[in-house]
Amino acid sequence: CGIVGYTGFQDAYSVVINGLRRLEYRGYDSAGIVLDGDSSFKLAKTKGKVDDLVAVSENLKGTATIGMGHTRWATHGVPSDRNSHPHLSNNGKIALVHNGIIENYDTIKTMLTEKGFVFHSETDTEVLVNLIQYFMDVDAAIDFPTAVRYALNEVYGAYAITVMHDDFPGVLVVGRLGSPLAIGLGDKEYFIASDASPFVEFTKDAIYLEEGHMAIISLENGVDIRSITDNVKVVPAIQELKLSLEQIEKGGYEHFMLKEIFEQPKSVHDTMRGRLLVEEGIIKMAGIFDHLERFNNAGRIIIIACGTSWHAGLIGEYLIEEFARVNVEVEYASEFRYRNPIITEKDVVIAISQSGETADTMAALKLAKEKGAFIYGICNVVDSSIARITDAGSYTHAGPEIGVASTKAFTAQLTVLSLIALKLGKHNGALSNSEFMSLITELDLLPKKIEEALQSTHDITKEIAKDFVETQNFLYLGRGYNFPSALEGALKLKEISYIHAEGYPAAEMKHGPIALIDENMPIVIIAPKKGHYDKLVSNVQEIKARKGKVIAVVNKGDQQVSAMADYVIEIPETSECFSPIIAAIPLQLLAYYIAVYRGANVDQPRNLAKSVTVE
Ligand code: G6P
Repeated sequence: CGIVGYTGFQDAYSVVINGLRRLEYRGYDSAGIVLDGDSSFKLAKTKGKVDDLVAVSENLKGTATIGMGHTRWATHGVPSDRNSHPHLSNNGKIALVHNGIIENYDTIKTMLTEKGFVFHSETDTEVLVNLIQYFMDVDAAIDFPTAVRYALNEVYGAYAITVMHDDFPGVLVVGRLGSPLAIGLGDKEYFIASDASPFVEFTKDAIYLEEGHMAIISLENGVDIRSITDNVKVVPAIQELKLSLEQIEKGGYEHFMLKEIFEQPKSVHDTMRGRLLVEEGIIKMAGIFDHLERFNNAGRIIIIACGTSWHAGLIGEYLIEEFARVNVEVEYASEFRYRNPIITEKDVVIAISQSGETADTMAALKLAKEKGAFIYGICNVVDSSIARITDAGSYTHAGPEIGVASTKAFTAQLTVLSLIALKLGKHNGALSNSEFMSLITELDLLPKKIEEALQSTHDITKEIAKDFVETQNFLYLGRGYNFPSALEGALKLKEISYIHAEGYPAAEMKHGPIALIDENMPIVIIAPKKGHYDKLVSNVQEIKARKGKVIAVVNKGDQQVSAMADYVIEIPETSECFSPIIAAIPLQLLAYYIAVYRGANVDQPRNLAKSVTVE
């Protein structure tokens, strides 16, 4: 979910609505806004997107200079007007927006119900707002911020909240535990948001609220930060935002996803910049450099992640095992944490996460940390929760990724994993100097090759996509480094076009999926020259013998596979280990165009959210 709050001199409606649009990637099942004008709260909320909210609330424009809003990804309760935020307390005086989950809401709800409180939604949030009212009701000496603090001390779970009270005009109270919250400091105005994007054009000064802290924000007294448990005053660190407005706007592209696909030459380049120094023959990575011995002495490396980041992790396993000869395991964060995994103090646990906020990944990391492992983060969002709790890490410098389906963050993750694998291999001697040099020379060429791949595959994928608008199933096959590419290609298609797709190692086809193949089944096969090419030729023969439709991703000038394929997409040649970075381009474009032709909302696919902050 996404939260925006504002107090100052501007029209709060416009600031909040524009902010919510930028946070829609965090969820878009429903949206709501509350403003505190001269009289009582003005509230509007609806199932659907921010545009739907605007349709029912435009009359609120220009009515207040304090307000807050919410865009929701449903956890408790189906997406509906009733379950949308903000939620009001029974006396109508307190309004609250919430991102996260309150685990003990049932117990509190029972207690409040016994005291006569009535609930209008199925949400955990409504319980929290009434608990705040309850504390103020029972003791008139308890003021609004104190009641918020008392209530937060009663709840278990994860939250970022913003609260307003009708009798405390101009005051916003915020708190966080497990979900992010940033405070923008303007001149006579303050902004609150789940990330800094809603207020970048107004101020570059921000405070990222720490875990377990709350803040009382008012025009009169500024920002007063306290610890939630014991109310101790905290001096905040003010950070200067690096984010610019252009970075979070579409820049002429029809969708953020397309813009982000086309940004990959730059994002991969940025991720290597200052790290890959080909002329000096070195890889410089501060995060790794200071801990090389820790990596070297690791019994094994465990990579944990979810979704696309997990696919990057699978390729990371191939890279690190091949070049550094260290044992690597890759785990879904959600499975890892719940199966009492064996973790020792010698282990290095790497978490990969674009957002740095994924709750499952975060929880798995905490577990690894408790067991004494060294924890390392590969995140895209600077200062995100995962980036903060890890012992060390390397950022991917992909820039803000807004499209819900991950594209440039994926290739940036592969770039970081390549750098780490080569750096470790060079250091521990698993890689000879000449091997290292030839690999880094090739790595350095990737931004240029991605550019070529964008040029050579854009038109053809757009054409091919037209033939598959009505298709209901897809298979994606690859081997070695490109087996995870097949998984990722299938995921991209599933996420944005809602076509059922499965990725498989090509050799596994004969153990099951081959039964699905007939003249209606399209099979995307990733078959670059380097990497089991001959075996893939046989796989294509097996498919053609069953009349499957082959869409082949091959290197320029390919003969054998191309001769058999129904559709051929040519990409530039690179080392096998880097080929997933290039192969990702046409797979992303193919999914994108199929989804566009099907009329799907590419940037905000149904039921998904970019940053999943619930477990
Ligand atoms: C969500 C997104 C995916 C993403 C996954 C992991 O499910 O929709 O695109 O791959 O979370 O996110 P992370 O931010 O941890 O990489």
